[in-house]
Order: sequence, then structure tokens, then C-alpha cells
Amino acid sequence: MSGPETPPANAPRTRAGSSSLKDGGTVVPVREVLWGSSAGVHKYETAEELEPDMAKLVVKLMVVQADTEFASIQQHRPWLDSAPTLEDRWIESRIVADEARHGLQACRILRDFGAAGQQYIDELLAKREGEHKLDAFNMKFETWGDVGAFTCFVDRVGVYQLRAFQECSYGPLARAMPLMLSEEQLHLNFGASVLRRMVQDGPKYYGSKEEAQAAVRKWYPRALDMFGHSNSETSRRAIEYGLKRWTNEEARARYIEEVSALTSKIGLELPPPEFDRHVL
Ligand SMILES: [Fe+2]
Ligand SMILES: [Fe+2]
Repeated sequence: MSGPETPPANAPRTRAGSSSLKDGGTVVPVREVLWGSSAGVHKYETAEELEPDMAKLVVKLMVVQADTEFASIQQHRPWLDSAPTLEDRWIESRIVADEARHGLQACRILRDFGAAGQQYIDELLAKREGEHKLDAFNMKFETWGDVGAFTCFVDRVGVYQLRAFQECSYGPLARAMPLMLSEEQLHLNFGASVLRRMVQDGPKYYGSKEEAQAAVRKWYPRALDMFGHSNSETSRRAIEYGLKRWTNEEARARYIEEVSALTSKIGLELPPPEFDRHVL
């Protein structure tokens, strides 16, 4: 069959309107380190090229990353077959599959660090609920509002952390970001949609506006804590090595601005940023 939409047989296979595809290929990734003390040199492509202190930092960042991914699978698990609607159950199962893939992706980077990396992977896989590094990942999803607020607020912090790694100085990490970020977008949108439906439709959907509001007060402080200490030495070194783009405080401030607008649009209130905080 032929028609006006059918491209000639020898035309490059591109998706109309896509800025990420050019002439059938992907955009060439940036080869240079873009910020920090090594700005302008070629990105690091193998674990062997990293100086020991930078290697340690990449490992530390990946252990925390993988730990959050595996922990959230444990948190979502009880809702896989008890989320309120068929669509919600499907999205829950998709989120769990995505988080498992993100954990695998972080562990692949750890594997490049040989026996020490493998040792961390073994420890990560043995961790049970309640044994994780960050508080937000040791709390249970007791209500459906918890699922909504967690994906809306905590996953969104995850996105800020991933964006901070975009085009970073370690090539294998930089290249893992686009797919992870696109998958996380589904989680965020789902979280906001769960809270919105609870506010607008109440028990006709599931739960109530009060339950959604209580969940916001439970998860927002833990989400803000996830950015880490304001004067963190680790974050300063990560910027210097070209691994992260922002300080913890810069990222937290941008996040607060974004979620303040979003939450009031949904019809819910955020507690003040100092409320119930553990990490300052
Ligand atoms: Fe994830
Ligand atoms: Fe996620």
C-alpha cells in the first residue's frame, strides 16, 4: 500500500517530530566533562580510569541509588494485588518492574568495580525491609494515600538526583540516565494522579481527601531529608568531580518550588519545609 504518509523505501527511519533521533541515529552523547575540576577533558569511560577517591564516590552513590530502588520494590509489594482499580494494579506492577531495572542498572555500574563492587551487590540483595539507608525507604505503605504521596514526592526527589547525574563525567552513569528518567516520569504522574483522584472523588475512587493530606504530611519531610545535609562534603566533592550538577541545598530549593505549585493545584497543603525534619 502506498499513500502520502508512506516514506520512500530508502528514507532514513526517523520518528516524526522527535528531537532525539536524527537521520535514523541517536544524538551523539557529549564526550567532554562539562563541569568540575576536569571540565573539558574526555569523560571517564571505565572504572580503571578513575582516581581512587572518585571511584569510591561513584561506588557510594551507586550503592545508595540501588538501595532505594530495591527498597521501594519491598514497599510497593503489598499493593500489587490490592490497589483500588485494575489500572492502578497494572501501574503498580509496572513501577515495581521499573525499579528492579533501575536497581540492576546501578548494580551493573557497581560490577565494573570488581570484587569490591560485587560485595556491595551481595549486601544490597540481602537487605530486608527496615534495613535501608534512607528513612523514606524504611517506612511502610499503610494506606493508598501513602502510595500516592510516595510516588509523587519521594520518586520526584529521585528524579532530581538522576537529573543531577545527567551528562556527568562518568560515561556509563551518564548514559544510564535518559531511560531511567523517562520511566520515573510515569511514577511521578501516577502519584499526582492518585492524590488528585482521592481529593476530587473521595470514597467514590478510594480513601478521602483527609487521607491524602495525612500522607502528604507523612512523606514530604522524608522527601526533603533525602537531598542530604545542606553543607555536605560528599556533595561538594561530587560536583568537583563532575558527577553531580547541584549542591543538596540548590536541588532541595528547586524541588520545594516545584512541589509547592503542584500540591496546591491538587488541592492539598504542604507543611512548612522545617516540619518534622531529620536531616538539615
Ligand atoms: Fe527508580
Ligand atoms: Fe520510581
